[in-house]
Amino acid sequence: MPNRLATLLPFPRLVRQQSGYFPLGATTHVLAGPHATREADAVRRVLAALPWPSANANSNDITKDITNANDILVDLDAGLPAEGYRLRIGPDHVRIKAADPAGAFYAAQTIRQLLPDEAWRAAPIDHAAPQTIPCAEIEDAPALKWRGAHLDVARHFFPKPVVLRFIDLLARHKLNRLHLHLTDDQGWRIESRGHPKLHEIGSHRPFSQLTRDPRTFDNKPHGGYYTLADLAEINGYAAERMITVVPELEVPGHARALLAALPDLAAAPGTRELTVATDWGIFPQIMSPLPGTLDVLAGLFGELLGAIPAKYVHIGGDECVLTDWEADPRIRDYQHELRLPSPVALHAYFLRQVADMLATSFGARSMVWDEGFTSTITGTGLRPDTVVMAWHGMEVARRAAEAGYDVVAAPTEWTYFDYSQAKDDREPTSIGGLIRTEDVAAFSPVPRDWSQEAQARLIGAQFQVWTEYIADSRMLDYMTFPRACAFADVAWAGKAVPWASLRDRLEAHLGRLAAAGVEYRPLNGPHPWQQRNPA
Ligand code: ACM
Repeated sequence: MPNRLATLLPFPRLVRQQSGYFPLGATTHVLAGPHATREADAVRRVLAALPWPSANANSNDITKDITNANDILVDLDAGLPAEGYRLRIGPDHVRIKAADPAGAFYAAQTIRQLLPDEAWRAAPIDHAAPQTIPCAEIEDAPALKWRGAHLDVARHFFPKPVVLRFIDLLARHKLNRLHLHLTDDQGWRIESRGHPKLHEIGSHRPFSQLTRDPRTFDNKPHGGYYTLADLAEINGYAAERMITVVPELEVPGHARALLAALPDLAAAPGTRELTVATDWGIFPQIMSPLPGTLDVLAGLFGELLGAIPAKYVHIGGDECVLTDWEADPRIRDYQHELRLPSPVALHAYFLRQVADMLATSFGARSMVWDEGFTSTITGTGLRPDTVVMAWHGMEVARRAAEAGYDVVAAPTEWTYFDYSQAKDDREPTSIGGLIRTEDVAAFSPVPRDWSQEAQARLIGAQFQVWTEYIADSRMLDYMTFPRACAFADVAWAGKAVPWASLRDRLEAHLGRLAAAGVEYRPLNGPHPWQQRNPA
């Protein structure tokens, strides 16, 4: 048996190998110590998903002084860091101590990685295979509390089962946030009972841009949306896997799908075509910032947060072309009434109003792309509890942190997984750029040259999958993995990971992904069927 302790991904803080093996079998019970019922349940949930009838999900939460051999004992230890765990694997027992259910869940994910790759399958292929894990002591906790993944379901819609599978894969990598980009120019993906035209009109387009250079289009309708019940289900499924869903309803730009359904909300009405976009880019059609827009948005956020009672809500704020605000006399007057010096300042003011509404009505904290922060330079500041998602790089992340905002690092240079994975004509069409897996490994989310105060404001990091050129779940796998594995390693460690060490672990880890049916990009380049179609 290869030393599976050396293949753990993300790699734990401390691993001490010991001799012997623990047999995980049909007689293994998961037992909860005092007040550790939720932690034991979290362990059972992971082990119940194993393909063998081992480690049964037997709900035995009675504390026993003397346990049978082969049991897994789960205890609460409030002295451990949040999401942290201590795992002692002996030949007769496994002891898990965890600070919270997430820590216990991650201990069980570690156990799953210590089993043969078959543990990542949905059904056993060899009933007789010994399900043993090597004896060891492991101490572990994440460096970053926000270890996020962003999925754009607006440019291409991904059916609910694809999202659930994506969540499951994030959880196996100990990632804990799913930022769902639910609205954009090319699609609106949220059922609305108050404004059904949003999902009736905004959720589909007659055809889509296929390639960039030269620009070509397909001839196929594309669309889909999640019902509010679907969103509640996605949220519940994620919560069971210790993942917080962060829904994004983007304002005031990237709004063509909304405006196609609700044209009265457009700035400079009557001057532009208001249809769901069929090509990719940044468009001047944006929402008006007048009070009527806020009223409609309050209703829409209310529906969304009814389904996903999120504590963090992303409100967008990026790539906002403000020409239609300047062109609209109502909006110019409004800006002057508010004594704001510019449309950019009005942009900041508008984001603050939305954030105030979310805080007051729903107790939610807003998140913005970093333009939300940079647009405050000439006017209203952001609501102080707004979280800035810094995509333009670590310098704007530092400035936002120094200005006192909590920041999530999401820099294009290392975390944009819509970028190409190699400079090679065989790579499928992408948005451009280059981010190799080894580049992700070189990402240091918390720069040591920042002040201590600024470092403390950096609550985590996130990778982004924008889906202009990712039309289906197969391409989603290809663009996400194995870069997401490298990201998980970095986010857990809070610092860059040497590529040589990660590469060895990754080669072993790809066996797990393969067992789970993930169509990752092989380290030496795409399979023939993953290559770009000849132009
Ligand atoms: C972004 O990539 N426009 C946030």
